[in-house]
Amino acid sequence: MKYKPSVFNYYFDLDNDGIGIFNTLSNSIAELTPENYRNMKNFDENKFEADVKNALVSNGFLVPYILNEYDAINKKRVDSILNDKFSFYRILTTLDCNARCFYCYEGASSHEYMDLKTAEQTADFIIDHVENRRCTIQWFGGEPLMNTKVIDLISEKLRNKLTDDKIRFVMITNASLASPQIIEKMKNEWNLYLLQITLDGDSSEYERRKNYVSLEKPFELVINNIKNILQAGLKVSLRLNYDKNNYRSVCNLIKYLREQNFNGMSNFTIYSYPIFSSSQGFQSENTGWEEWFEIQKVLVENEFLSPLEAFSLRERRTQCYACSTKSLVVLPNGKLIKCTMAMKDSYAQVGDILNGIVNHDVMDKWCDTSLTKACSRCCFLPICQGGCRAGILNYTSDLCIHQKNFVGNVLRERIKHLRAASKQN
Ligand SMILES: C[S@@+](CC[C@H](N)C(=O)[O-])C[C@H]1O[C@@H](n2cnc3c(N)ncnc32)[C@H](O)[C@@H]1O
Repeated sequence: MKYKPSVFNYYFDLDNDGIGIFNTLSNSIAELTPENYRNMKNFDENKFEADVKNALVSNGFLVPYILNEYDAINKKRVDSILNDKFSFYRILTTLDCNARCFYCYEGASSHEYMDLKTAEQTADFIIDHVENRRCTIQWFGGEPLMNTKVIDLISEKLRNKLTDDKIRFVMITNASLASPQIIEKMKNEWNLYLLQITLDGDSSEYERRKNYVSLEKPFELVINNIKNILQAGLKVSLRLNYDKNNYRSVCNLIKYLREQNFNGMSNFTIYSYPIFSSSQGFQSENTGWEEWFEIQKVLVENEFLSPLEAFSLRERRTQCYACSTKSLVVLPNGKLIKCTMAMKDSYAQVGDILNGIVNHDVMDKWCDTSLTKACSRCCFLPICQGGCRAGILNYTSDLCIHQKNFVGNVLRERIKHLRAASKQN
């Protein structure tokens, strides 16, 4: 069989003047001798030693000449967008929030709450439309815990109609209102599988950024609530939002979490995320690789991530939740949209819970399976799948994966850890 270099090969300089090669589809990484690098670039498969050629083929750096590699990647994304197995509903119980994060893409909170009639209709809408699919309900806001009656009602109705193996409940919350009574409900009545909770730094930075409306010692309170949630056996995914001004404080927070033994808990995971700009919120200063690196390094040092987890670029099956044809956001007034980044744009509404999807043109813009010209031939397609649809539709300036601007640095660090691991063995 004839071979050719994969279109998903990414070449990068190594610290020792060598050349590294990474394949964004197979996730393989290797060092090339100058000669093998030249043979890859001015491709001639007959010039490789047999064992080198075998290794290049088995790691996906060389692929069959007849293979169109984009076909498989595009199929995964298209299947996932058009899928008929999973439904996803992000339900905003309220637009109100007890925190006032300056960076929030939702902008200033409003006092709109879902009423019980709309909650009832939301549950009916989901029951009528879910068919045989597995379904995830994500509680969102504003702050979802500011309207627990709606969660009570919808959870009960859905749990009565759908078996527990068909429905999964998750929540995105700041956790400030997660009292012991609420945690009891989370576990036994709402059947929550996972909570995502955001922290923005150590005590003073967290309190400054969250800027809660009248809450005593919010950092202490939230840390304590997270401990109680974990003790109740629920999963927590902790999100660390960072920019140039708070990343050192985020590092201090990670050290504090280690001192508090969060690293030993199997139901606790942690990840960092750069603050992004949005059309209806705040304009962020671009964060670079230094901040990301520092945070990843501290996560490794404090045993929250292994080096290979921290310095990785993983394959993605699809773009994001908003692109799926079976995914909807339910606003407190019962209107349906595709993505919360577009919640203040009345033209972004695709329908409502009484009439279902009526605006198919808008729906099609979000679920378009085609890619922009730049994405369709990008070497990073397997790890990005076309980026943020809200970005393509101008609701945020962020399109590509954050690490795209410093992939070489990520891969050099990955190789360094792989070398150290192989020396130990
Ligand atoms: C809009 S809030 C709603 C749910 C809940 N109140 C909370 O605090 O998680 C959801 C999450 O969006 C994320 N978020 C909002 N604006 C952001 C921005 N500009 N950059 C990065 N993340 C942002 C934060 O992590 C926030 O916790």
